Parts: sequence; structure tokens; C-alpha cells
Amino acid sequence: MVSLKFYVRAVLSLILLTMLACQNQVNNPNQTPVNNPQTPTAAGDIPNRKWWKEAVVYQIYPRSFKDSNGDGVGDLRGIIEKLDYIKSLGVDVVWLNPIFASPNDDNGYDISDYEAIMKDFGTMADFDALLAGMHERKLKLVLDLVANHSSDEHRWFQEARKSRDNPYRDYYHWWNEEKGTPPKRVSFFDDKGDGWQYEPNTKSYYLHYFSDKQPDLNWENPKVREEMYKMLKFWFDKGVDGFRMDVIHFISKDTTFPPIPAEFKDDYGKFYGSGPKKHEYVQEMNREVLSKYDVMTIGEAGVGMEDAHNYVDADRQELNMIYHFEGVGLGYLPNSKKIIDPNGWKLTDFKDVYSRWDASFAEKGWNTVYLGNHDQPRMVTRWGNDSAEFREVSSKMLTTFLMTQRATPYYYFGDELGMNNIKFDQIEDYKDIESINWYKQIKDAGGDLKQFLDSQKIAARDNGRTPFQWENSANAGFTSGTPWLKVNPNYQTVNVAAEEKDENSPLNYFRRIVKFRKENPVLIYGKYTLLDKANESVYAYTRELSGKKLLILLNFKEKEAVADINLDLSRAKVLLGNYAAPSTDGKLKPYEAVILELAN
Ligand code: GLC
Repeated sequence: MVSLKFYVRAVLSLILLTMLACQNQVNNPNQTPVNNPQTPTAAGDIPNRKWWKEAVVYQIYPRSFKDSNGDGVGDLRGIIEKLDYIKSLGVDVVWLNPIFASPNDDNGYDISDYEAIMKDFGTMADFDALLAGMHERKLKLVLDLVANHSSDEHRWFQEARKSRDNPYRDYYHWWNEEKGTPPKRVSFFDDKGDGWQYEPNTKSYYLHYFSDKQPDLNWENPKVREEMYKMLKFWFDKGVDGFRMDVIHFISKDTTFPPIPAEFKDDYGKFYGSGPKKHEYVQEMNREVLSKYDVMTIGEAGVGMEDAHNYVDADRQELNMIYHFEGVGLGYLPNSKKIIDPNGWKLTDFKDVYSRWDASFAEKGWNTVYLGNHDQPRMVTRWGNDSAEFREVSSKMLTTFLMTQRATPYYYFGDELGMNNIKFDQIEDYKDIESINWYKQIKDAGGDLKQFLDSQKIAARDNGRTPFQWENSANAGFTSGTPWLKVNPNYQTVNVAAEEKDENSPLNYFRRIVKFRKENPVLIYGKYTLLDKANESVYAYTRELSGKKLLILLNFKEKEAVADINLDLSRAKVLLGNYAAPSTDGKLKPYEAVILELAN
């Protein structure tokens, strides 16, 4: 009986692996030209398989990855130099933050020409070489679409501000002075927090949800939408494999600009994300452009689960995935997006968020998971423990979490080394417009600046943007010039060169677990079940597919902890762990992560 089960399982796994291999071939950009036809849905017991569900995405902040010309800023040639490193990680897709022409008020999220490369980053020839180099290595490239706003230095805005009857006027949102003070809109970045900026030339205000150098585009104008679709086609026809879409839920606005309803008073983001025609426009974008290519689309959308489905369910014909903020939003003071709660966050809340999102996408749509990105601090500082004793082990534990969820993992460059927050002491060290303007806002309001700076040591975006640490030479081998943002002094020991030599480094652990995820479809598609829900130290869950059952145990605390899971572990097999002698009995060492296969 046992051997029959074993035989059936072996055959099933073989079929599954063959299917995986076949699908990878279909999507090999070298064999089929880029923009290949829709991935066929494989038969068998996994419905709706897609390459983008099976991918591991590696996000690179180009400004901080590798500088090839000594100007202190990372660039495309720098990424080209490091393609073999990226390939060695085992990831499938690279997402680059915006690389388009920009005056860099918000590091590229203020675009002055959507079809040109930012001077700091190189030329279009560099871009073409990068894309070719990636496709040669069977890596896919995802770019960043910033469609809600442009730079005020974009030609469209330069025209629009010339006169009220300029043909580009309606590319943006204006409020004419004679109508009185515009209805309150809050800006996320502006030093005054005001979302309207007065423009003296035409005696009117323009709308900007972000900085006053990021005017919001008027999506209600069909010409704007056409420009966006034309631009997307330009990049897809070059062979780009997808787009991450910046604040895509903000694009539609009620242009009568009514007062903000009371229910949104404490959450402007939610109000901005509730525009009347947002889904209509994303559907139109899908019809006009996305549906014509086999590309991956991921919306940045701080929306609830219900609306998330409206973006990603296949029958909606909008996007493949979105990413939400419920997880990374834990741990702030009530009604504050700026100050971290010194008492931290509760693991039960963390488990609750990820389990609810999993459940919601179990049957329909597809989920994503991330702990770090360019808008977040380093994951090991925020969710693990960056002390000398626990930095490595806790960062591997978090990596284990990310690689064992039923969701496409978005993994942020540098997290594979266990890079941690730099924790600047003074505002002068920060380069990020968000930190600088929030500081000004708090200062002007006579607020607690010490509390803010302490909080920024944990939460500021610049913590996740410090230069990548390649080796222990000057500036971590990132640049021969002066880096645009300080390098974390721990580069002497935390760097690629050192970690390459250490079999047990976070880097080599990341490589192992990425490979392991790819070899185990149960980790991609398998059913997720949360165990021991009330445990404040251990996150325990199983993943099950085709008779295979894996148990994942993660200790989120610096003390030993026990998982109360009521499962017979006596015949369980350890498949992977972040300690040399992994736990086999549910008793976990500090920050221990272990993946066990349960016997049938
Ligand atoms: C998104 C980006 C962030 C940027 C903002 C404005 O949230 O991820 O980095 O500052 O939009 O474009």
C-alpha cells in the first residue's frame, strides 16, 4: 500500500516536473521571440497555470545597484555588468524602478519623457543591450509605469502651463483662481501637504497627489489615455516583458472635485483610490494593449481584497496581480502613516493579514507577497532582527516566509545579502523627498522631531535604497566616485564577495530556496493552511498539492519557541532549514525556519 502510494506520487511529480520544463521552454525568450503568444494552460491537476505565477521577481533599484561610470549613481551598464550575478540567483523576472528621463525629484517617479532613458542611467542603446543580455539569459524584464502623474518638466506640462487654451491644458487637472480656493486635496510629499499648487502664469492651481513637481495626469481626457497606450506599445514592441504600475488605482478622478467624504478623512490614499472610472480605464488599457502581448502586469494598489479582485480576476480582463499594503502597514501608530509604534507589531496580526489574503485568492485571481521594496525599509530590520547575533538567521527566516507563500514573491535586491537599515541620525543624510518633506511638515507644526527621526530609522525609504554591497573595497564596490546616498558601513562584512565564499550565507540560502521553490510546485500552487493561529512567536502553515504535504515553521522571535500544531512529526523529513541542525520536533531555535515534508 505504502509503495503504491509512493509510486503514484513519483509518477505525478514526474508529470508535473515535465509540464514545468515544457512551460519554461514555451516562455524561453530565446526560443520564441519576445511577446510570445499566451502561455497555454497546462492540463492536469493545476488549473490556470501561468509563467508569471511561477516566477520569482527580483526588484532592482537601478540608482543603487552598480555604477559603471564613476558618477556615484547606478546605471544600466552597471546592471549589464552584473547580469551573471542576477542569473546566478535563480530568479526569473527583474523589475526595474523607473529608468526614464526625469529630473529626479522623486528618483524617477517624475517622468519628463516616457520614451527616453534617464541621462544618469545611460542611453537607449544601453537599454537595448540590457534587454538583449537578459533575454539571452532567459531573464524577463519588467519596467515601471508611472501613469498617474508626470514630471512638471514633461513637454505636456510645459505646454499646459503656457495658457488656458493650450492644446495640452486638459492633460492635467486645473482649478481656476476665480472659482475660489480649490477643494481640499492632500499631497503625500509636498512640504505643506497641499495637493494644489498655484500656477501664476494662468492664474490657476494644478493638482498633485505627490510633490508639486509631479502634476497628476488627466485620465478623463482620451488623448492622455492614447498617449499612455502608445507608450506602452513602444516598450512592448521592444520586447519588454511587463510593467509594474505605480499607484494605478489613483488614475481616475471625479473632476468636479467634490469635498472629501468624512469616511475618508483619515485616509486620503483610500479616497484617491476610489475614483469612478479606474476599472474602466484599466480594462481599456488591457483591450488596447496588454491583451495583445504575453506580458506580466502588476499594479501597485493600496486597496482592500474585494477591489483587488476587480483588478486581477481573469474574467475582469485588467491586470495579472496587484500588491497591497496591509502587511507592510502593520506597526504604525493609530491614524499615522509616518510614525512607527515603539511597541511594534503582533505576529498574530501579521499571520492574519497574509492568511486572509491567501484565502481570498485561493480560488480566483492570484496573490503577491513582498516584505521589502524601494518604498520600504530593509526587511530584516523591520520584520526580523538586525543585531549582529540574529541578522543572518532572521533574514533567512524571512526569505523562507516569502518563498513558501501561495503568491508570486517580489524580492528586493540586497535582501539576499541580509542588508539592513542604515539608520541615519540626522535629516541632512536623507535624500528622499518623503522623509525631507515630512520632517518639514512636522517641524512647521511644532511636532516631535526626535520621535520622527527615531521612527525613520526603522521605516524610512532611504534605508532600502543605500548602495548595493558588492565587496569590501571602497564604497562596497558600488562606485569609484561619491555614492549618491551613503553606503551602509557594514559593507566590510556584509557583501557579495564574502557571502559567495560562505556556503551558509544568506545569499547562498536564497539561491537554495529559490531553486527549491521551483522544484516544488506545491510551494507555488499548493493549498495553504494556517496552524497554531494564536501563537505570538511561531508562524506555522502547511502547503499541500497532489498528496505532497509540506510544513513550514518560522520562529519570529529571538527566544526559543514551540509550535503547537498537533501533527505527528516523528516521520517528517527535513527539506530545508536556516540552522545547521534543523529542528525536527516543532521546538524552534531563535528565528529558526524549517521546511518539513510530512509523511502520508
Ligand atoms: C509609488 C512609488 C513611490 C513613489 C510614488 C509616487 O508609491 O512606489 O516610490 O514615490 O508612487 O510616484
